[in-house]
Amino acid sequence: MESYNGAMEITLESIQQLKKEKNAVILAHNYTLPEVQDVADYVGDSLGLSRKAAETEAEIIIFCGVSFMGETAKILNPDKKVLLPEPRAGCSMASMCTAAQVREMRRIYPDAAVVAYVNTTADVKAESDICCTSSNSIKATASLEEEDIIFIPDMNLAAYTANKLPEKNIIPFHGYCSAHHGITTWQIEDLRTLHPGADIVSHPECTFDVLAMSDFIGSTEKMIDFVRVSDNNEFIIATEVGMLYRLRKVRPDAKFYFPPNALCQTIKMTNLRLVYRSLVDGNGEVILDPEISRRARIPVERMLSLD
Ligand code: 13P
Repeated sequence: MESYNGAMEITLESIQQLKKEKNAVILAHNYTLPEVQDVADYVGDSLGLSRKAAETEAEIIIFCGVSFMGETAKILNPDKKVLLPEPRAGCSMASMCTAAQVREMRRIYPDAAVVAYVNTTADVKAESDICCTSSNSIKATASLEEEDIIFIPDMNLAAYTANKLPEKNIIPFHGYCSAHHGITTWQIEDLRTLHPGADIVSHPECTFDVLAMSDFIGSTEKMIDFVRVSDNNEFIIATEVGMLYRLRKVRPDAKFYFPPNALCQTIKMTNLRLVYRSLVDGNGEVILDPEISRRARIPVERMLSLD
């Protein structure tokens, strides 16, 4: 068997070959390293990746992203092998909210339903009524009968959703994504001063003040779609800098300006060598408690059935 300890060069071809032999599919988030995106069968946002994970016929899913993404793929495929090439790649926002905290919020607000952003652990999803991603938080929340909604864990996505659904009483959990929460209005203002003709394109994990300055707000894939068909050729991009690779592919003629600190270090931990290692020896298998997984599947499938 080939070695992954540095003795050979890992190429796109060697990965494609192994993928075929093992009947594996590689899914990668829009923020992953370019070398990882280049070997993936599908690159996209959390909703697109969940859908691909739900419909794949491959026996092994190699999930290049962070832990909640691999867990969601496993929740949807309990009988398949899901591998997270770097199992230590966590999401700081997901780790801010525990299942015990959700149960406590339910105790305080007994009439409220719980909407869990997909950036949560499987335990937290298991306590929830419906999941959502950044591209369907409004639809998922509006689909619930309850007026009172506990929205976990992202307070910025909660504020964005609440603003679109004044008929709902949104009770936010105070979590956030450090990469997005750290983008400030003055950073965006500085970029706008330097590039007055640029459109401001933001992810809804940004603060409400940043969103208020934006020309377009959407999930990573929706941001790419907006740029793809836009007449403009300059964009200020308020999200994680890994998006640059896809944006340049869809609009090689355009210029993109990012705030300086928008970096998710954990999603960058997955590299080609680790992907190769997972393919060779099954490194990074996602293991979930079967009962937690069964309960977590209900809100995830409820979300996927929305459209
Ligand atoms: P998307 O679903 O928009 O890709 O976002 C995922 C995420 O974790 C953003 O920080």
